[in-house]
Amino acid sequence: MKRTMLITGAGRGIGRALGVFASEQGIDVIALVRAHAGGPGEVFDGVDVTGKDALDRVAAMLGDRPVDLLVNNAGIIGPERQSTLDMDFDGFRHALEVNTLAPLRVVQTFLPNLRAARDRAGIARIVTISSQMGRMNYAKSDRIAYRASKTAVNKLMQGLATDLAAESIAVRVVDPGWARTEMGGPDATVKVEDAAAGIHARAWETDMDSTGTFVDYLGAEVSW
Ligand SMILES: NC(=O)c1ccc[n+]([C@@H]2O[C@H](COP(=O)([O-])OP(=O)(O)OC[C@H]3O[C@@H](n4cnc5c(N)ncnc54)[C@H](OP(=O)(O)O)[C@@H]3O)[C@@H](O)[C@H]2O)c1
Repeated sequence: MKRTMLITGAGRGIGRALGVFASEQGIDVIALVRAHAGGPGEVFDGVDVTGKDALDRVAAMLGDRPVDLLVNNAGIIGPERQSTLDMDFDGFRHALEVNTLAPLRVVQTFLPNLRAARDRAGIARIVTISSQMGRMNYAKSDRIAYRASKTAVNKLMQGLATDLAAESIAVRVVDPGWARTEMGGPDATVKVEDAAAGIHARAWETDMDSTGTFVDYLGAEVSW
């Protein structure tokens, strides 16, 4: 039985590289993208992760199809003006919608598909791509809206891991490294293909012992 993985924001950057890598490994990829740019696998376009209707439309099309792994990848850096002393609050709100609220809504939308996979394979998995920039024990303050949105999604995913443990659905938070994408920029130190391969490994190795953990793409534990 082929395994199925659903990825948000799969049209470019880490999401696209992850979809391509997973396809090469024989995984059925369901790629959610905003605009069709030839994403990997089976592409559903017009899916802004902040839009409930678009997510519900995809869920209706998938029906009871099992999803073994859901990857919350879509994310934004947030507004130009984001300091604690001068904040673009509308931009901050939007960053929270994309980086924090949407991952939880995506999980809730596709929970029936995850449960179907769990019934078939004994386990299903959720991975959210977060960032070390959200760590609480790290007092740097640049891009604070982005940092806060990732801190908050980490907390949500930790709580989700607790709430889904009894259902054998594992939840992990993964930092992709400083990856060369539009967000990471040209000076980033990690090739996007290496980030994707690492995330893929971290995702599929996740089990009920490692649920609720935060790791980097190479598998080193990250402190919250
Ligand atoms: N690159 C790094 O160094 C780095 C480090 C730590 C964490 N991360 C995280 O890794 C994830 C992927 O980042 P990346 O480096 O690949 O960034 P990227 O190159 O900027 O790509 C971002 C992806 O997210 C999608 N996206 C943004 N807003 C969306 C929305 N409202 N609805 C649906 N899709 C949306 C984009 O789709 P469109 O093409 O439609 O805009 C694009 O596919 C993000 O969560 C990011 O925070 C990245």
